[in-house]
Amino acid sequence: MNLTLKVWRQANAKAKGNMENYSIADISPDMSFLEMMDVLNEQLIGQGIDPIAFDHDCREGICGMCSMFINGEAHGPDRLVTTCQLHMRKFKDGDTITIEPFRALAFPVIKDLTVDRSAFDRVQQAGGFVSVNTSGNTQDANAIPIAKHDADKAFDAAACIGCGACVASCKNASAMLFVSAKVSQYALLPQGKVEATDRVMNMVKQMDEEGFGNCTNTGACEVECPKGISLENIARMNREYLFASLKG
Ligand code: SF4
Ligand code: FES
Repeated sequence: MNLTLKVWRQANAKAKGNMENYSIADISPDMSFLEMMDVLNEQLIGQGIDPIAFDHDCREGICGMCSMFINGEAHGPDRLVTTCQLHMRKFKDGDTITIEPFRALAFPVIKDLTVDRSAFDRVQQAGGFVSVNTSGNTQDANAIPIAKHDADKAFDAAACIGCGACVASCKNASAMLFVSAKVSQYALLPQGKVEATDRVMNMVKQMDEEGFGNCTNTGACEVECPKGISLENIARMNREYLFASLKG
């Protein structure tokens, strides 16, 4: 495949960025998107051009690092996959592909396609801890009955990899899908109920302080989420928040 790539280049957080055009040839349809970016970077290095900075780690859809906005969609045109799981066969020979960083006030660009998503870390940290009985009279976790339905829902919520695609896809740059997944994975389990009210209040407060926008129920986050995190988590978080607020 021969492709034209329009890539956001930005030397550092303060620099004014711009789109640059690159041509790339002989790309296999079986390559992953990141492998194609590796080939482009080898080409740029050979030409004495600064390679394109982009985040990646696991390259198997687990770490949530590979944040790229491809042809106007977070993680590109495929569904339920991350950028590292996207294959070049989703594109056609001769295509022009636009590649930008995830854009949001709370995700400032560090360089080129890398953004600072430490706001997510701070939201998680604000959630605090889960109490554990260490008195020596601890109940075996397997002896705590949990309804199958709740266990499944908690597991689904825990599938969130913190990639930030939900924020990048939302016209308000809202982090509600991410935060609600983190709230839900504990709120549904008996182990998470002890600090549940503090947790939801503190995480929502931190989310607001980080500059994420409000949710207006457009649902774009759910469509672009590579892990299929459901909007029902946002509804659950809103109920948890209301309950916590009334409890004071
Ligand atoms: S909710 Fe989905 S899109 Fe948002 S951070 Fe988690 S995995 Fe990524
Ligand atoms: S590099 Fe880890 S999810 Fe893509």
